[in-house]
Amino acid sequence: MVEALPARGVPAEQVLAEVRGLRTADRPTHGGRLFAYVYDPAVPGLDELAGSAYALSAHVNGLDPTAFPSLLAMENALVGAAARVLGGGPDTAAPDVVGSVTSGGTESLILAVKAARDARPEVSRPRLVIPATAHAAFAKAGHYLGVALDLVPVSAETLRPEVADVAAAIGPDTVLVACSAPSYAHGVVDPVAEIAAVAEAAGVRCHVDACFGGWTLPYLRRLGVDVPSFDFAVPGVTSISVDLHKYAYAPKGVSVLLHRDAGLRRSQYFAFADWPGYTMINPGIASTRSGGPIAAAFATLRHIGDDGYLRLADRTLEAVRGLADAVRAVPGLRLMAEPESTVVCFTSTDRELDLFVLADELTVRGWHTQPQMAYGDLPASIHLTVTASVAPRVAEFGPDLVAAAADARKLGPVRLPDELRALAATLTPDALTPELVAGLAGGIGLGAADGPTPERMATVNTLLDAAAPALRERLLVEFFGLLQRPIWA
Ligand SMILES: Cc1ncc(COP(=O)(O)O)c(C=O)c1O
Repeated sequence: MVEALPARGVPAEQVLAEVRGLRTADRPTHGGRLFAYVYDPAVPGLDELAGSAYALSAHVNGLDPTAFPSLLAMENALVGAAARVLGGGPDTAAPDVVGSVTSGGTESLILAVKAARDARPEVSRPRLVIPATAHAAFAKAGHYLGVALDLVPVSAETLRPEVADVAAAIGPDTVLVACSAPSYAHGVVDPVAEIAAVAEAAGVRCHVDACFGGWTLPYLRRLGVDVPSFDFAVPGVTSISVDLHKYAYAPKGVSVLLHRDAGLRRSQYFAFADWPGYTMINPGIASTRSGGPIAAAFATLRHIGDDGYLRLADRTLEAVRGLADAVRAVPGLRLMAEPESTVVCFTSTDRELDLFVLADELTVRGWHTQPQMAYGDLPASIHLTVTASVAPRVAEFGPDLVAAAADARKLGPVRLPDELRALAATLTPDALTPELVAGLAGGIGLGAADGPTPERMATVNTLLDAAAPALRERLLVEFFGLLQRPIWA
């Protein structure tokens, strides 16, 4: 255990050694074996460059751009680059694009929803229309901002919504329609042009959540992939978000929210002058903002450059195709969709091949995948976010997937104790007492010395999968609360 405030300060070298020691418990952020959370281009020297740029600006405060023009210059350069990648800027169909740098995709989406909500003050009960596959951050935005969600179902075959259903969901209180390019879970691009057209016809803003893949789709198109229009070239698209800390390969903490023009952005801002302190104008949620992530992103983009991103997209494409072939070669596994971006997502068609057990078997072989729960008609699946660093590893993945599937079959599906399964299926979140939480946690071995380890999560995942989303949310809150406990000296 480490103590953050020792009685006597610890020498710098020792502190760094301690941090390095703590980091050894983490999943490997480099090496092409982690298919979620991190985006690794495997570009030599990039970490060092981004780290140095980060350090140069870490203490700069984005609170006041007039005091720190370096930050404003780098932010504006990032916005210009993102706009260019996404079909905006001089000599395009969207010459007046403007934007802001935010801390991540979630903040960009919250601000897109806020801007749309506040542009329609006459709507007292604002609503947001999204496909059911839209990122959970929209639900968070709705929750924080008091905007109700209208979820449009997606087809189990195409994983996309029907445009007629989107049109039907738009009502007088709809302040925003949003869609994904692509969705996180399956990497599928929504029918953006058609959705934007129905939104425009209804006089409603349309946001394209390109947080995940907005930086790769244009490069994939340049490589010959059939990528449908999803950016500012599409009439009716009023805003787009793209995360630089994903496929632009910048360190965490940077996303860009773009609006087609400054008028659309105005309601995103928050200004306050009615207090005795400094007058405040914030484009985003945070007030004080470190310049570190912005400088690091600026350095990353400049170092990789347009030609570099094209090469990285090519390598990623090669990896995606190799991984998809590996999945196709295993009987009992089925791709949820033919890959059209940088996601490989697959499910099991065989009851004896339990996906959650398979995910564990891959983990013990050093492949860190992301299990996804069943949702409506959609089965549970395994998600792989593929980055350029995966390409050299693909040849090793195929045989390991075959072996992992064979061992998962041998182990057989997870069988929850009957009473636990019944409890998960019938319990309502309100009925969840601390005793029941402790019982459920104990039933799956959480907190026990021989309980689940990061390598063996199948039982936990099966319990969560058996619970309805509302109960699952509550269990997650409770289980997470068990993790967030102070370390005392
Ligand atoms: C499509 C999409 N939107 C939004 C987000 C949220 O991004 P962040 O985790 O940076 O807040 C993600 C994250 O994976 C995403 O894939």
